[in-house]
Amino acid sequence: MKAEFWQSRWREGVIGFHQSDVSPALPAFWQATVGAADGRRVLVPLCGKSLDMRWLHAQGHRVVGIELSAIACEAFFREQGWAYEQDHAPAGSELSWTRWRGVGAAQGIELLQADIFAVPDEVVGAVELLYDRASLIALPLGGEARMRERLAERLADWLPAGAAGLLVTLDYPQAQRNGPPFAIGPAAAEALLGPTFEVRLLQTVDMLSEEGGSRWPVDRLEGHVFALRRRGAA
Ligand SMILES: C[S@@+](CC[C@H](N)C(=O)[O-])C[C@H]1O[C@@H](n2cnc3c(N)ncnc32)[C@H](O)[C@@H]1O
Repeated sequence: MKAEFWQSRWREGVIGFHQSDVSPALPAFWQATVGAADGRRVLVPLCGKSLDMRWLHAQGHRVVGIELSAIACEAFFREQGWAYEQDHAPAGSELSWTRWRGVGAAQGIELLQADIFAVPDEVVGAVELLYDRASLIALPLGGEARMRERLAERLADWLPAGAAGLLVTLDYPQAQRNGPPFAIGPAAAEALLGPTFEVRLLQTVDMLSEEGGSRWPVDRLEGHVFALRRRGAA
């Protein structure tokens, strides 16, 4: 998935992945998985304009989302009626990024408009928790680009030992449909993340029986929620 694929989806408004409400996984599992908010900073990779970030902020978290598209970043703040300030990569630096920093009611939310594979660690800053919905499943596994593997490596680098997170994925027979979203079931989640995170399946939902699910040309479609914990001594 090249950057231009996603940029054109945002330009053309082909954003079927965006949910008009908060992901049910958050009220169901977030607090039990990560504990009290206490202002802890949550990393939301490939965040789009997800309302899940508003929910996390409302619980008392600081939030840092990473997203390629300026359209998504602008829409996120505008649609909440929230103000923001911007700063940019210093002139002449090799890597380009723009930070959209919420002010007033949105204080504590930052969106880094950047390629997640190129954003400097110091711009992301220290993160304590992870929330991934439709991020790892947005990227293909393997190939020369190894995008999904590289994202998993970045997440493991950024999160300290003991850090908790929630991962929301879809799973279906990959041979029956092309991604994105790409399939990640329990075995694939374990293979990808198991070396660096403890991966615990919390929920499996049969989505073929849900409205819209049967439009997919697949004979199995499941939504999974996993609890993650970064391995290593906390
Ligand atoms: C499937 S969408 C999921 C968005 C969001 N997590 C949600 O639940 O609505 C994937 C998002 O990742 C962004 N994206 C894709 N590749 C990226 C990259 N290399 N760096 C940062 N963002 C990227 C896309 O623009 C898109 O908004």
